[in-house]
Amino acid sequence: MKRQKTVKDSEATMTEMVLPNDTNTLNNLMGGKLMHWMDIVAAISAQRHSNSIVVTASADSISFKNPIALGNVVTLKAQVTRAFNTSMEVYIEVFAEDIPANSKITTHRAFFTFVAVDEKGKPVQVPALKPITEEEKELFEGALRRRQLRLILGKRMDPKDAAELKSLFDLEDTSKNQ
Ligand SMILES: CC(C)(COP(=O)(O)OP(=O)(O)OC[C@H]1O[C@@H](n2cnc3c(N)ncnc32)[C@H](O)[C@@H]1OP(=O)(O)O)[C@@H](O)C(=O)NCCC(=O)NCCS
Repeated sequence: MKRQKTVKDSEATMTEMVLPNDTNTLNNLMGGKLMHWMDIVAAISAQRHSNSIVVTASADSISFKNPIALGNVVTLKAQVTRAFNTSMEVYIEVFAEDIPANSKITTHRAFFTFVAVDEKGKPVQVPALKPITEEEKELFEGALRRRQLRLILGKRMDPKDAAELKSLFDLEDTSKNQ
């Protein structure tokens, strides 16, 4: 039987400070630097879930909601939302803290996909994930639709086979009744 792990097993947190070398000409954190940190924290989370070497397969749905200023403290939190066969979806939340001003805001959210591999880079099976809280269950449910969407966009899935995704758009045709 496939092993099972919880979301808690995969939690990873990273804390950084925005220094002058990390910023753009507006003195805000460069997007590429933040994506680098996201990749690291998410990889740690995927490793904790799979106890394997992992590689980044995709990074999507990154929303840059608010800029992060020079001197801010950045906290990145990652957790696996769902494990498939050899791949795992990781949810990342980013918070920016202005400690002297005593303020903390959520600035970014993203979903990355990692694949567990052996020493030769060949994909290996990962344990199943059991969501426990309501929030974990919601992320778990949505992960299947997000996976289908990214596999279609990556030309790895025929849209006809994306049953979960199609159900989102299967709205009743009310025009016939008008
Ligand atoms: C990711 C990688 C291991 C997939 O290898 P592959 O030969 O295509 O393997 P498979 O077709 O068996 O797919 C393996 C898994 O990857 C998933 N996958 C592959 N490409 C994907 C993509 N673009 N987005 C999401 N998942 C993807 C598949 O859905 C599959 O998941 P599953 O086993 O849970 O169903 C391979 O493409 C690779 O090594 N890529 C480079 C990774 C890397 O170096 N990343 C760092 C960035 S430079």
